[in-house]
Amino acid sequence: MADTTIDFQEWTSHHVRRFRRRLLHWFSAHRRDLPWRKDRNPYAIWISEIMLQQTQVATVIPYFERFLARFPDVHALAQATEEDVLQVWAGLGYYRRARQLHTAAKQLVAQTNGRFPQRVDQLQQLPGIGRYTAAAIASQAFDVPAGILEANTQRVYARLLALEGDPRRGLAQRILWQFAERLHAVGEGKAGELNQGLMELGSLICSPTSPACTRCPVADQCSAQRNGDAAAYGTFSRRPRVTELHHAALLIRRGNRWLMRQNDAHQWWTGLWDFPRIELPAELATAAGRSSPSVKGRHQPLPADVAAKLQELAHASYTLSCRPHHLVGRLTHSVTRFRIRLQCIVAEGHRIRLAHLPGQWKWVEPSAHSLPFTSTARRITQQILT
Ligand code: ADE
Repeated sequence: MADTTIDFQEWTSHHVRRFRRRLLHWFSAHRRDLPWRKDRNPYAIWISEIMLQQTQVATVIPYFERFLARFPDVHALAQATEEDVLQVWAGLGYYRRARQLHTAAKQLVAQTNGRFPQRVDQLQQLPGIGRYTAAAIASQAFDVPAGILEANTQRVYARLLALEGDPRRGLAQRILWQFAERLHAVGEGKAGELNQGLMELGSLICSPTSPACTRCPVADQCSAQRNGDAAAYGTFSRRPRVTELHHAALLIRRGNRWLMRQNDAHQWWTGLWDFPRIELPAELATAAGRSSPSVKGRHQPLPADVAAKLQELAHASYTLSCRPHHLVGRLTHSVTRFRIRLQCIVAEGHRIRLAHLPGQWKWVEPSAHSLPFTSTARRITQQILT
């Protein structure tokens, strides 16, 4: 469907210019010194934007710095193995982002000898780059006047316009994208600064629940603020319901190595290495809970019926023959809308032949490993096996 053009009424060229002037002025005084703002290198900006999807700035900074030190340009990234890329990414989550970065780097090197296209539509041809990311790269690296819409700017625009309801719904998104473009339509350059200033305003001033309107450089151009309650706009608080899942990680030892497997394409954390996991049916989740180690490090023998059931599940899941016997710890971790309660269970392996198991398996010495581990595998090696 072609977008109908929306009349933003008071947002005349004059009004837009005033807004931009004040925002840019505020941004020059308040911008955070973030490592991807050091220069206009499209590669660094691209990596930062992919990492910043679904992840907080403070979490991203050390990952970004490690990633750039390890893969300083698109050629280095294209030449790396997927395992190397995942290892540097391990802990950031949403691993598909790392695999798509790697694929896109190889594509760029093959097609343009690593040169980044400057147009939004060309950037969008690369894996993992949608409209937002393409516009963020084009504007920040090349000053292409392209509007952006992500969580922060969505809230800022919805408040400027006093847009009612859930800003994520289809019609609202069309309005907000058009508004994003409107802010670039006066042809004054500084597209990258403007977009970063808009995101900065969203994260430092125009926060989801307590916007600091008294410190906002554009408060008098904000319809929500004029309506007296900026916080009532731009957010939609229905939280996705959290679903609890119960898993067991089987810790099977041979000498100083532990049995690990690589997650396949149908699992979370594809490509990362983990201890073999089984999903526990609800009745077993509580049954295993009968032996709860209240003291860290205290090993609790499993009730016989629980041990037998786990043995059966290990075989059904992986044709793995083992005898689970002790609960040695519990971890909780969250993935998207799931909260996983993970019971760590030591088991005795029976004549395990890696080649006979489905997928990729290895005996791994955790302290000497160079494999990309899942976050929980790292926590198990650091907190439970030591
Ligand atoms: N979130 C997404 N992109 C960002 C950027 N360039 N700076 C700060 N926060 C961001």
